Amino acid sequence: MAHIEIRNLEKSFGDTPVLRGIDLTIERGEFIAVLGPSGCGKSTLLRIVAGLEAHDRGHILMDGRVVDGLAPKTRDVAVVFQSYALYPHMTVAQNLALPLVMRDLTRAERLPFVRYLSGRVRRTRADIRDGVARAASLVKIEGLLDRKPAQLSGGQRQRVALARALIRKPSLFLLDEPLSNLDATLRASTRAEIVQLQRTLGTTAIYVTHDQTEAMTMADRIAIMIEGRIVQVGTAREIYHRPTDVRAALFIGTPKMNLFDGTADNGAIRLAATGAVVVQATGARNGPVQIGIRPEHMVLVPEDPGDGIPVATTHREFLGSEALVHVAVGDGTQGTPAVARLDPDTADTMTVGRTAYARFRPGALHLFDGEGKCLDPDRHRPLSRIPSAFGQEDGASDAQPVPRIVGG
Ligand SMILES: Nc1ncnc2c1ncn2[C@@H]1O[C@H](COP(=O)(O)OP(=O)(O)OP(=O)(O)O)[C@@H](O)[C@H]1O
Ligand SMILES: [Mg+2]
Repeated sequence: MAHIEIRNLEKSFGDTPVLRGIDLTIERGEFIAVLGPSGCGKSTLLRIVAGLEAHDRGHILMDGRVVDGLAPKTRDVAVVFQSYALYPHMTVAQNLALPLVMRDLTRAERLPFVRYLSGRVRRTRADIRDGVARAASLVKIEGLLDRKPAQLSGGQRQRVALARALIRKPSLFLLDEPLSNLDATLRASTRAEIVQLQRTLGTTAIYVTHDQTEAMTMADRIAIMIEGRIVQVGTAREIYHRPTDVRAALFIGTPKMNLFDGTADNGAIRLAATGAVVVQATGARNGPVQIGIRPEHMVLVPEDPGDGIPVATTHREFLGSEALVHVAVGDGTQGTPAVARLDPDTADTMTVGRTAYARFRPGALHLFDGEGKCLDPDRHRPLSRIPSAFGQEDGASDAQPVPRIVGG
């Protein structure tokens, strides 16, 4: 049974719909990232799952049980927010102990000056001290227990917030952009720590972010959320190589997927900018299409091979092991901008300001209809059994599609 099931969840603030029918199933122990631009409704979704916000329609199930309307503390979830939300007047140890104190001691038993402690209270207090020590050692802040939050760095505060979330051993972690206040180096190392921690504890995690690198490096699966809808759910590789929606395609991968306007005309897919036929796709309905190609699948050569598409070279970036060559396709330098990822030696043969010639690897082309949906229904199948949109086997594994250069 799935651990968490979100069914057709809808939420509006006033007249503004924020969640427009979210469906998402999460297995026990899975790490799922919800990735989307600012304002798409990620935090709202997380707050609803936590029980901090009510939804208008749909259901949330935990272990098959509907939890709509259940109070946050009965849901067995812990939330880590971007702002650490630590109590400034308490020490780290007291901040960590708080969730256990609130859960395990009555109001009277919490008073520090209670002199005659029952055996039970004494044992509970000892358990809490053990719990604090264990959680602190998990995130390596044992040496900081007596400090106040103001005496900690951002990364240390974030670790305290994590420890405080996991101290109750919740069955579900909800993390809302927990690394956005950290600098790049600290973010990378904390990223790895969070994943290790989640793996060690086996806790299901929903991690909200607008940072594709975080989503791709941390999550088992990514749910791409745009304007209150989830447009694709899959592993980073699936979404990278088999985007089912153009918005998902553009959200994963740096530099972004190149995208060109085109038309389908009796199976011939034509680039609008130049009129060149880039591929035959039988079954494509006549009309406008969008043609996508990742930068590494765009081949550039300095001399016309006969079937190349002339492009204007506008800019070159050397990045060490690779180079990015920026071009404009059609209409001189005013054409559609695109980027090719090349090895630096090949990039050196392209001169800025001169015409180069592009070929698209057909096996690696992505075709989307006018609404941005992928034209190839097979792309919804698992990667290992996907023929390309063009009737060729273009990637029998989840490795990169096999490059296949076929002239238009
Ligand atoms: N309490 C509220 N009242 C009214 N509108 C709200 C409320 N909370 C959120 N919104 C609106 O709902 C939309 C989604 O907000 P939400 O915070 O879920 O986005 P997000 O994806 O988390 O964005 P970010 O990446 O910037 O954190 C936004 O347009 C926001 O202005
Ligand atoms: Mg948010």
